[in-house]
Amino acid sequence: MTTVVNESAPGGAARRAAGLPRLLPRAPEDLRGHLARYGAVPYRGKVGALIADIKTAGLTGRGGAAFPVHRKLAVVAGARQTRKVIVANGAESEPASRKDELLLRLAPNLVLDGLQLAAETVGATEAHLYLHGAARPEILRALAERAARGLDGRSVTVTQAPPRFLAGQETALVNRLGGGPAMPTFQPPRVSERGLGGAPTLVQNVETLAHIALIARYGPRWFRAVGTDAEPGSMLATVYRPDLKTQVVEAEIGTPLRDLLGDGDEAQGIQAWLIGGYHGTWLPLPQAAELTLDNAALRRFGAAAGAGVLVALPAGRCGLTEAARVVSYLAAESAGQCGPCLNGLPRIAAGLAELAGAGHRRGTLADLERWAGLVTGRGACNHPDGTVRFVRSALTVFAPEITRHARGQCSATDRRPFLPLPAGLPTSEEDWT
Ligand SMILES: Cc1cc2nc3c(=O)[nH]c(=O)nc-3n(C[C@H](O)[C@H](O)[C@H](O)COP(=O)(O)O)c2cc1C
Ligand code: SF4
Repeated sequence: MTTVVNESAPGGAARRAAGLPRLLPRAPEDLRGHLARYGAVPYRGKVGALIADIKTAGLTGRGGAAFPVHRKLAVVAGARQTRKVIVANGAESEPASRKDELLLRLAPNLVLDGLQLAAETVGATEAHLYLHGAARPEILRALAERAARGLDGRSVTVTQAPPRFLAGQETALVNRLGGGPAMPTFQPPRVSERGLGGAPTLVQNVETLAHIALIARYGPRWFRAVGTDAEPGSMLATVYRPDLKTQVVEAEIGTPLRDLLGDGDEAQGIQAWLIGGYHGTWLPLPQAAELTLDNAALRRFGAAAGAGVLVALPAGRCGLTEAARVVSYLAAESAGQCGPCLNGLPRIAAGLAELAGAGHRRGTLADLERWAGLVTGRGACNHPDGTVRFVRSALTVFAPEITRHARGQCSATDRRPFLPLPAGLPTSEEDWT
């Protein structure tokens, strides 16, 4: 169950004092409500005009890689081709993430404003919205309302992303919009240089676009009023708490993680955090308890905020079993095009499942380390690298559990699955379209 919780989540008072939420209204906002709150789309009337403000704001992408937005805008704005494409990425292909769906449902017009403003900024001739099905009705309604008012400079083509882990990766997205399967391809060239149909293509996460819509209205100083100097602004996070409540929270970048997740004292019963989702990093408690939600801090622990999936694993669950479940899912989600990924990830998944069983071969841990080394850096996309990051951190944080399982024991008192995974794994070729 996903809720917006700037009131009820821990740290809610601090967020309110910081002027948050900025992106999420309490209830779905139709066009009339959106216009009453924000006014018309603040077009600048010129290609490139918004780039300086975005650069001063220091906005980075919220789809996972935190790449500086002004740099991608500048590449596409500066391209000589007459045909240019912009895509709003709402695929939200990480199964544990809920923030893009909620944003699209509650504030579709903020995302669509950002899409139009970014399209104007780069001189896009074609605009697309690529999304996971759940938010489609709200988006289609918003687009119809906007068309009736003549608000949009460009019409927007909506395409549904298949529910696959890789579907939101930008080269997979470009393949899908071009009529092919949502599978990644090797880069370079980057899609910003040669993307959909060979045109320079700007792909931005839908949350990134909503931030652009606000920066265009309120300016970079306003944006920088929250966050850290190096990583300004706020970000949406999907937070899994031990009480099984899943919450989407808009948090200031640099917020103490314990304010969002709890810090593992006995009353809260948390054994570890998972930061950054299924390509993310397990962190041990209490060692990580002082960390904050920003990449500069997280990097010291080999972690990154990614697309904002934050998990507090309750003490009664087996982290090793949870990790093994996720890695079998990730192995099944390999697009099967690159040998090391196709062959290596299932072996890694089988090795981890063996550790999570009762007793394992002597060489299993060493095999896992060897296979991890063999797949790293060997894919067209970073699926193998992300999976290996998750696996290595699990092996470290859950080392005591590995020893217990080797003796045929397990510390879990609750064996229900904790981390969300799609029911039934798609396996056929058509599932990529
Ligand atoms: C395996 C994988 C899955 C991804 N899935 C998504 C996704 O569902 N949504 C998204 O916005 N970005 C996703 N990305 C990141 C995109 O490739 C791309 O960097 C992003 O959409 C750019 O937008 P941003 O700069 O605004 O973050 C994924 C990347 C990888 C490697
Ligand atoms: S690395 Fe794996 S997931 Fe990525 S394109 Fe190659 S086979 Fe597909």
